[in-house]
Amino acid sequence: MNFVDYQNLVTQVNQWNHAYHVLDAPLVSDAEYDATFRQLQIIEQENPDWLISESPTQRVGDIVSSAFKKIPHDVKMLSLANAFSIDETVNFFVKAAKELAIPLAELSIFSEPKLDGLAISLRYENGLLHYAATRGDGQIGEDVTHNIKTIQSIPLKLNTETPPEILDVRGEVFMTKAVFEHINQLAQTQNARTFVNPRNAAAGTIRQLNPKITAERALQFIPYGIGAYSGEIIFSLHSEILVYLVELGFKSNPNNDAFFANQTAFEQDYQRMENLRDSLPMEIDGIVYKIDTLDLQQKLGFISRSPKWAVARKFPAQVMTTKLLDVDFQVGRTGVLTPVARLEPVFVSGVTVSNATLHNMDEIERLNLCIGDSVEIHRAGDVIPKVVKVVAEGESRKKIVMPQNCPVCNSPVIRVENQAAWRCSGSLACGAQIAERIKYYASRNCMNIRQLGTKLIEVLCEQSILNNVADIYRLQIDDIANLEGQGEKNATKILAAIEASKQTQFSTFLTALGIPEVGESGAKNLARYFKTLDELRTADIETLVQIPDVGVVTANNVRTFFDDATHNQLVNDLLTVGVTWDENKNVENLQPLAGQIWVLTGTLSSPRNEIKAKLERLGAKVSGSVSAKTTYVLAGEAAGSKLSQAQSLGVKILDETQFLELMQTYDTN
Ligand code: IVH
Repeated sequence: MNFVDYQNLVTQVNQWNHAYHVLDAPLVSDAEYDATFRQLQIIEQENPDWLISESPTQRVGDIVSSAFKKIPHDVKMLSLANAFSIDETVNFFVKAAKELAIPLAELSIFSEPKLDGLAISLRYENGLLHYAATRGDGQIGEDVTHNIKTIQSIPLKLNTETPPEILDVRGEVFMTKAVFEHINQLAQTQNARTFVNPRNAAAGTIRQLNPKITAERALQFIPYGIGAYSGEIIFSLHSEILVYLVELGFKSNPNNDAFFANQTAFEQDYQRMENLRDSLPMEIDGIVYKIDTLDLQQKLGFISRSPKWAVARKFPAQVMTTKLLDVDFQVGRTGVLTPVARLEPVFVSGVTVSNATLHNMDEIERLNLCIGDSVEIHRAGDVIPKVVKVVAEGESRKKIVMPQNCPVCNSPVIRVENQAAWRCSGSLACGAQIAERIKYYASRNCMNIRQLGTKLIEVLCEQSILNNVADIYRLQIDDIANLEGQGEKNATKILAAIEASKQTQFSTFLTALGIPEVGESGAKNLARYFKTLDELRTADIETLVQIPDVGVVTANNVRTFFDDATHNQLVNDLLTVGVTWDENKNVENLQPLAGQIWVLTGTLSSPRNEIKAKLERLGAKVSGSVSAKTTYVLAGEAAGSKLSQAQSLGVKILDETQFLELMQTYDTN
């Protein structure tokens, strides 16, 4: 094997990749692919100086420490104007034709599904993928190269002998519906956070620091245009650019179409795409119509942030009619009974819906809903189904009534004073509440015992192995190993995770107790105020209400919780089995930004002093000038010299969206 052989092998594996991921036409078996890939890895280990960046082994790199470096776009990344009806669509192009002084019917229109993901710009230099950036504010994006490389349908090297010196390929990164459902199911069993929709999942995945996770999530990319380029690429049509990109190795969108502008053509095309929508592997939220002739695009230019030659015809939220078959009542952690609609299964935006939440009895009354009615189902944001209204009353309407006794433990159901909620009075005698409380205790924002998944908790509760949260720490290896699908290895892992969870923080422990109205931020406030658990346990209402954000209701809940002998016993049991925290670290840990120096600049959407106070509460110092010691610069609109100073000093810069995202992780306000 010499260097040329190695290069040929890289080309070969890249061709197999392209055939598999772009053309959906594999050339070799998975086994042969895997074996060759492994061979390539070995060759590279033995000859580290041969390594070339387009080698498929380079797709999944190491965890990056400082992702999201700023990358300015040489050509702005625009967004699109929206049209919500056929008239708005036609009018958009009537205006364009008028400005161009040509008849509408002479406008050649290119139609593309509007993929519901996120826009990415890929920079190729002399044919090699150089970096990848998000859209950001359109002018400056963020470096996400480490994650983009894991997307198998993005070539690391363009398939051409004569690559342009510079080429920015623009398109949408998205997650298919199937992958989305798969990762959410997996997340559920692992007690991890689920995503709201495929777009969110794709966006979250692209911002991962660990490319291994990104690679597992199998994102895809389809280009829809180009940005900056240099050299000899001459086209007269947008559709020719797309053909060129396919030649270079990108995936094409099989549902693109072209026609001359007129009302009927737009109507037919919309119909065509609407019919296709459910059968497509990815979510689309509309259609993008573009004038195909690049010359005309150039003449029209753009207005504010969107081109005058393209418009997004958006789909309305999908609505379907079905029948309400029954209503069940689910018992939550605090005993609140939530009505759940059981529906005749109906297909809405690519998924079969057979359940929908009805929130509470007031909502049922507002809708004047009865069992047997025909109802309209709406998938808002295309995910959580909702009953919007009654379309026709059923022949034999059955009124929906709150059961008098809990469907799980049979204890009386009582109305919560001044609220729309009804609650099972069984408390810790109610099997449903016990299981929900244990799930909550182990969940991500509480004790975060990931390995102890919700399904496993349910089984252990059913078998009365788990009867309260302290029982988690009394689990024996056989309790788990003997269950179907578990085994000793798994059980050992789970017990290790449980053991590790014992060392915690005061505020986390308080959150996990599940005192009504005391969530993560409430628990932090309590932990900040009281040095020890005993101080909190004995605090009276007057003391409790002095704490920021603690009102009379919460104060009462805290008192009631600790006045209850069962709860007190449970807390003691948890301490006895070894749950512990460092009392000296209560406050330090609540100041995650301690030691950091921040500078605020530009126009921000909330008053500076509020942001400053928020940062100071988290432990940061806020300074007026940028220096090498500055940890972060928060740059709003029209930021000036401080921003450029930060850039030249290499200080990390956050825009407002990133800042808000960061703040969310601290759950503060
Ligand atoms: S063209 C200047 N084509 O929609 C035109 N955009 O709302 C730039 N999108 O930021 C966009 N599918 O992320 C175009 N076939 C398509 C698209 C598409 C999805 C996204 C894109 C853009 C957003 C605008």
